[in-house]
Amino acid sequence: ALAEEARAVVRQFDYSDENVNKGVKEFLRQLDEGLHKDGTSLSQIPTYVTAVPNGTEKGLYLAVDLGGTNFRVCSINLNGDSTFKLTYSKVAIPKELMVAKTSEELFSFLAKQIEDFLKTHHFHHYETHVRRRNTVSSPTGYKDEHVFRLGFTFSFPVKQVGINKGTLIRWTKGFDIPDTVGKDVCALLQTEIDKLHLPVKVAALVNDTVGTLMARSYAAPGKTGAVLGAIFGTGTNGAYVEKLSNIKKPLEGEFDDTTGDMVINTEWGSFDNQLNVLPTTPWDVQLDKESPNPGFQMFEKRVSGMFLGEIVRLAILDMMQNDKISFFKDENSSFNDWRSTTNIGKHSGLFRQWGLDSSILSVAAADANPELGTLRQQLESQLEVYSPSLEDAQAFKAIASAVGRRAARLSAVAIAAIVLQTGGLDKPGDEPIDIGVDGSLVEHYPSFRDMIYEAFRIIDGVGEEGAKRIRIGIAKDGSGVGAALIALVAAKMEQHNP
Ligand code: BG6
Ligand code: GLC
Repeated sequence: ALAEEARAVVRQFDYSDENVNKGVKEFLRQLDEGLHKDGTSLSQIPTYVTAVPNGTEKGLYLAVDLGGTNFRVCSINLNGDSTFKLTYSKVAIPKELMVAKTSEELFSFLAKQIEDFLKTHHFHHYETHVRRRNTVSSPTGYKDEHVFRLGFTFSFPVKQVGINKGTLIRWTKGFDIPDTVGKDVCALLQTEIDKLHLPVKVAALVNDTVGTLMARSYAAPGKTGAVLGAIFGTGTNGAYVEKLSNIKKPLEGEFDDTTGDMVINTEWGSFDNQLNVLPTTPWDVQLDKESPNPGFQMFEKRVSGMFLGEIVRLAILDMMQNDKISFFKDENSSFNDWRSTTNIGKHSGLFRQWGLDSSILSVAAADANPELGTLRQQLESQLEVYSPSLEDAQAFKAIASAVGRRAARLSAVAIAAIVLQTGGLDKPGDEPIDIGVDGSLVEHYPSFRDMIYEAFRIIDGVGEEGAKRIRIGIAKDGSGVGAALIALVAAKMEQHNP
């Protein structure tokens, strides 16, 4: 049986049906507020993308993707029949670059990865054109048709002022390079690409959620395309198709207004920074206080992969430190320091900020064996818990699952609010409402989507029937393909207004 102390912690992560419904109402209110003015907690950033694709798009594009766990470079061949061929390479983003002194350090690293990618995967193109560069007469040294158009997926809040222009509002997810804030990130990347003389033009700037929305619409075109693209990974966010007439704040960039729609990047990671309705435990408070951006991304800090492990860690540590628990104990210890009275190695991630990787939450949720053998093994190998007892593992599993379940129910709040906002459920019939998702959490956390659906059923305005119509599908490699699709739109715009 689960120890009472652990049960008390679990209860703090309860998020009742009633509060879920309050959450949806407040989400709708903040969405609307963000459509009216700048500087609100839900940023509601206009993207100047006014249509989603239909699967017939064609061509070869480059895309780079910064903002999850990895930096990825890809080339995408869109076949024009809802299929594509993707070639990619990925590298983990070096931790020191996430907090570099200058933007140049980060962006020159990115440009170097693009160079390596071209040499490896498009050697012929690279060789021919880089060598011939000096023999043709254009400012960059390349003929325009030899220049790759690149879609830049940059998954941070950006004030977009055109299809390939946008200034960083703030860093999120542990990045912190003050020098970049307020600068045009496409220009920063282009400058470093030019220093390497690569035949590459940064043609489009894309948030990963927008890319995911585009990719889902390309790959699974329904009659109307997807309404929402969402990421549940290191961070969380969503982009959806809004009616132009609902966007009351000024739109400064140029765009094609014939569709009557525009994709909005909500930046819902910062939903309810003021904590009107978000459930809050002492450990949420502590996590925020010790983070690089206190007071921001308050929704994200309760939902996404970067933070869930840390919440669990803080809760467990608190219990151990205050001697409230009878597990994680080393019965043979004769020391006075509380750390030494536990069965946890002193270098364990449990004793370090961000030291508990959220992936072990998935292990905990997946281990259905009464002996919890797999989880106990992982606690030992990943977290240096020596010979964890069944009670240790049960407590860990219960707390981890409570944090995971609260995250899924919060995710349902965001998705349901957008579905209600776009009015899809008001239309009669049973046409599905399509949603594309990506990210390590929704991909790897067991039953994450099931828990979201379970919450949908109790949400006013959605209910059993509505929940059946909402179709959440993984948009694999979403943002790479999506960035290529937007680079294509950008290339068409260039032809129209050269
Ligand atoms: C990837 C997308 O598949 O998922 C990225 O290509 C996105 O654009 C990422 O940011 C999110 O997942 P994670 O778990 O890496 O943050
Ligand atoms: C963070 C970023 C946002 C991104 C999300 C998912 O919330 O601010 O732009 O879409 O993470 O990667």
